[in-house]
Amino acid sequence: MLSVLKFAAQSPLVRNRVSLRCFGIFSAFSKANLNLSSSPHSIRIVQYNFFKPRFQSCCKLHTSATSRQSEKGSNQDESLSMNARLKIVAVFLATWCGVYFAAKYSRSRKELEDRDAEMKQVDIGASDYELIDQDGRIRTKKDFLGRWFLLYFGFTHCPDICPEELDKMADIIKTIDSDTSVPDLLPVFVSVDPERDSPAVIKKYVSEFHPNFVGLTGTKDQVKQAAKAFRVYFSAGPRDDDNDYIIDHSIVMYLMSPQGNFVDYYGSRGIPSERIVESIKQNMRNYRRLHG
Ligand code: NI
Repeated sequence: MLSVLKFAAQSPLVRNRVSLRCFGIFSAFSKANLNLSSSPHSIRIVQYNFFKPRFQSCCKLHTSATSRQSEKGSNQDESLSMNARLKIVAVFLATWCGVYFAAKYSRSRKELEDRDAEMKQVDIGASDYELIDQDGRIRTKKDFLGRWFLLYFGFTHCPDICPEELDKMADIIKTIDSDTSVPDLLPVFVSVDPERDSPAVIKKYVSEFHPNFVGLTGTKDQVKQAAKAFRVYFSAGPRDDDNDYIIDHSIVMYLMSPQGNFVDYYGSRGIPSERIVESIKQNMRNYRRLHG
């Protein structure tokens, strides 16, 4: 049977038929060979060695243009296939990233909302108060709504700590106000020494640190009420022969939101102003995400 097929393959008639009919003839011979053979495996080898190479050679000679187009088409198919795969990978990655960041954003927003709700429950600056500013005007809690402010309690006769803290506040205000990506910050100083700190004394004192400072004082009761509202401790020490005295007081800056809520505090004297600035900016950005 093998010799019959070899003969058939070498026959000009078969070659012509193969060259003319290509696949159709090739198929016909394949089927015939398979039907006649008692050993299909050997027939397939024959087909491969004789018919397929001759068929390919024939087609290259007679249909080279078609072959080139076919080859080009094949390359395009491969290229398209690669592009399709890249697109699928890109779509998968984009979807994955989208889901991941959406979940992360959602989680971080939830955390911000939780913290915001917690801060609103903190009883610092929540109750009302009434004080007098450096120009003699009455100021209450509602006068500070609508803007961020940084609040500090102290007294003008403080020998070292208060001047240091007010200097730091001035640096913080300058840095925050020079950054247009965050709102301006109002510095507020509240005296815990109403006996000596009149509005005029306060006005002169705070103007030495920053022109935007709001200085507040009041009667003893008003100051007590304000200190209580912000959980600030203060206690006057013994008086000397010159009737001079020192007031022991909390050293803390309170960051208050435009809604009048407590947001953060900076109570350690060792914290550099740069870290406080970053914290304030972050608080401002978080607030904007939640409240616009
Ligand atoms: Ni002080």
